[in-house]
Amino acid sequence: MSPAPPPPHTPLPPGVLTLADHERHAQGAMNEATWAYLCGGAGDELTLARNADAWRALELMPRVLRPLAGGHTRVKLLGRTLAHPILVAPMAYQRLAHPHGELATALAAAALGAGLVLSTQTSTSLQAVAARVLPEPGRGPLWFQLYLQPDRSFTQDLVQQAEAAGFEALVLTVDAPVQGSRDRERRTGFQLPPDVGAVHLKGLHSPPPRALGAGQSALFDDLLTHAPTWDDLAWLRSITRLPVLLKGVLHPADAQEAVACGASGLIVSNHGGRTLDTAVPTAHALPGMAQAVQGQVPLLVDGGIRRGTDVLKAMALGASAVLVGRPVLHGLANAGATGVAHVLRLLRDELEIAMALTGCRTLDQAPTVLAHSPG
Ligand SMILES: Cc1cc2nc3c(=O)[nH]c(=O)nc-3n(C[C@H](O)[C@H](O)[C@H](O)COP(=O)(O)O)c2cc1C
Repeated sequence: MSPAPPPPHTPLPPGVLTLADHERHAQGAMNEATWAYLCGGAGDELTLARNADAWRALELMPRVLRPLAGGHTRVKLLGRTLAHPILVAPMAYQRLAHPHGELATALAAAALGAGLVLSTQTSTSLQAVAARVLPEPGRGPLWFQLYLQPDRSFTQDLVQQAEAAGFEALVLTVDAPVQGSRDRERRTGFQLPPDVGAVHLKGLHSPPPRALGAGQSALFDDLLTHAPTWDDLAWLRSITRLPVLLKGVLHPADAQEAVACGASGLIVSNHGGRTLDTAVPTAHALPGMAQAVQGQVPLLVDGGIRRGTDVLKAMALGASAVLVGRPVLHGLANAGATGVAHVLRLLRDELEIAMALTGCRTLDQAPTVLAHSPG
């Protein structure tokens, strides 16, 4: 049975006016282990910190007296016009943050015209989420994030469920053939509570471990023998009519390969610093990716986007849209759907203010307001 719909008017905690306030408040209200899972990163959390620092360090060069009347935040993405370029990143187990989990996030995203990418590890069924989002007239795109499972027929069934439910694109995450070493999380002994789990992976059986010979590696000689490769992208495209975007690409040569293999879009991402620590911050990777792709497919970016100015900078560096991760979970933890809506609203309002103050009527003017040209 799906949980009751989120109450429409959960109040926001007093004094929460920015994404940073949301973060502080959410941390204060959560136990250390859950916080470590939801908000921690891999290793020494250098990439986690550098993602946000890299956006902050970029400087804007405002233009003045340009006409601003009639300006807007609209963008085109995969054949659709969106009210603004902000999407919710796929994040596992959102019922850890709030009992209404993905349903509350979906409701808020749809109400705010933000796209939503639902994780393979969703703790709410994809059918329930689609039913919540699809009827909303002003909603953004609804995409399903895919982790390829060793059992490809299981993966195919999941893809068919997402298609049948009305999801409009698949996002294949390619930067996590193994989980990163999330040391903070391990230190706290984080465990999923019994009532929260990946509802679509319940019937999945891991392949039995292989007998390893002397000197063989449990990773390279067993687990990673199932890791996806470029051939699996071709396979995925052959079993679905939906566009496939790749998430977690940072190298320009991989971007070119992805385009050659028929990817419909790329998400420049380091998984929010949760996989490879010291991976390049996405703000630093984006210009090279834009150069490599030359507008053949849309480029999206995530990791450390915390202000409307960050969104403007991402657009200036060649992104077609951005995804936001942890701040959505903070809003969700603080006030369910109301909290997520507040986070998305703040980002959009800040983006409009940043555009006005830099003299950008529309987002295609964003590249003209960076203080230093990229690269
Ligand atoms: C708690 C949590 C769970 C996540 N789960 C997934 C997932 O299931 N699939 C995926 O592709 N990315 C996952 N991500 C990564 C996000 O999609 C995104 O790349 C990242 O959070 C963006 O960085 P930000 O949190 O700094 O905005 C997760 C991130 C967090 C924080």
